[in-house]
Amino acid sequence: MAFKERVFSGVQPTGNLHLGNYLGAIAKFVALQDKYDCIYCVVDLHAITQPIAVWGGPEQLPKNTREVTAAFIACGIDPKKHIVFNQSQVAEHAELAWVFNCVARLGWLNRMTQFKEKAGKDRENASVGLYAYPTLMAADILVYRATHVPVGEDQKQHLELSRDIAQKFNNDFGKSIQAHGYGDAFFPQPEPLIQGPATRVMSLRDGSKKMSKSDPSDQSRINLTDDADAIAHKIRRAKTDPDPLPHDEKGLERRPEADNLVGIYAALAGKSKVEVLTEFGSAQFSTFKAALVDLAVVKLGPINSEMKRLVADPVYIDSVLADGATRAQAIAADTMKAVKDIVGFVRR
Ligand code: TYM
Repeated sequence: MAFKERVFSGVQPTGNLHLGNYLGAIAKFVALQDKYDCIYCVVDLHAITQPIAVWGGPEQLPKNTREVTAAFIACGIDPKKHIVFNQSQVAEHAELAWVFNCVARLGWLNRMTQFKEKAGKDRENASVGLYAYPTLMAADILVYRATHVPVGEDQKQHLELSRDIAQKFNNDFGKSIQAHGYGDAFFPQPEPLIQGPATRVMSLRDGSKKMSKSDPSDQSRINLTDDADAIAHKIRRAKTDPDPLPHDEKGLERRPEADNLVGIYAALAGKSKVEVLTEFGSAQFSTFKAALVDLAVVKLGPINSEMKRLVADPVYIDSVLADGATRAQAIAADTMKAVKDIVGFVRR
């Protein structure tokens, strides 16, 4: 069966949006708007799966939710043409997640590397929500029957799980799906969109670690709230090796910091790494970093100032989220009605 093409993706409101979130996800969200109907979600239900100290508690959460929304808009997402909202305003996400908790197998969730990383050694003390995180993520996507999901490399395994859940639901309820006139499959197999030179942006202090909002060193990442001076300072201090830049991608092997900075430059410039190396091959890092500072400030400066302007207007931000939630819910409610019929829940 052919499904209507639709894009869905989400970002957690856990503070410190950084260059990895921008290049790996939000910049892609922007680019997909011309080709698809898009739904972009601030996933606040996911944020609370972590300890309160991580997401900041009830005073911080609304600020972070508005900040991610402001970032979406400042980066160029059009909330009128597409849908921007926060997850907790559409209860159908949690409702479908429960059904998926009963479709997904424990063995599948036990394999999730992100749970292992986030739970760390103290697994007994992790929330049940953190464990079930991927089934909620599958529900986010599939409650809109979305077909394409732009994400960074770190979400690949969760996307594979979403596909497995869609397939098992379609198999388990195959007869009922047919009987209710939905053909062979009710849910599509959502396709991850993980492409380009910055699907995994690394820490500026250690090229073997992912750039992350939870890294204790603020020098390890460029935040979307950093001003030009902070951006320049962090890039100039970024870890490198003593050699000049190579002429081809092979020359970046076993040089993780060089590879990372070239990838960041390429993604910001809309070029491939090969094109960047053609321009900067043989250059010293001092020269390359100066060019990267200029490019980063030109690209991120306007986002930073627009975010500041938007965050100062929470009434506008909340109206965007409310309007988005209304439009999202109309789609999600249709899916849930069908799911209830398919599963066999008596409904009004
Ligand atoms: P989150 O909030 O951790 O990150 C948001 C997006 O940013 C990407 N990303 C990166 N990309 C490249 N380099 C990095 N260093 C980097 N760090 C983060 C992430 O891959 C992600 O695309 N589980 C998701 C949120 C979510 C979701 C969904 C995504 C919930 N439901 C449904 C897609 C579809 C997450 O934690 O993203």
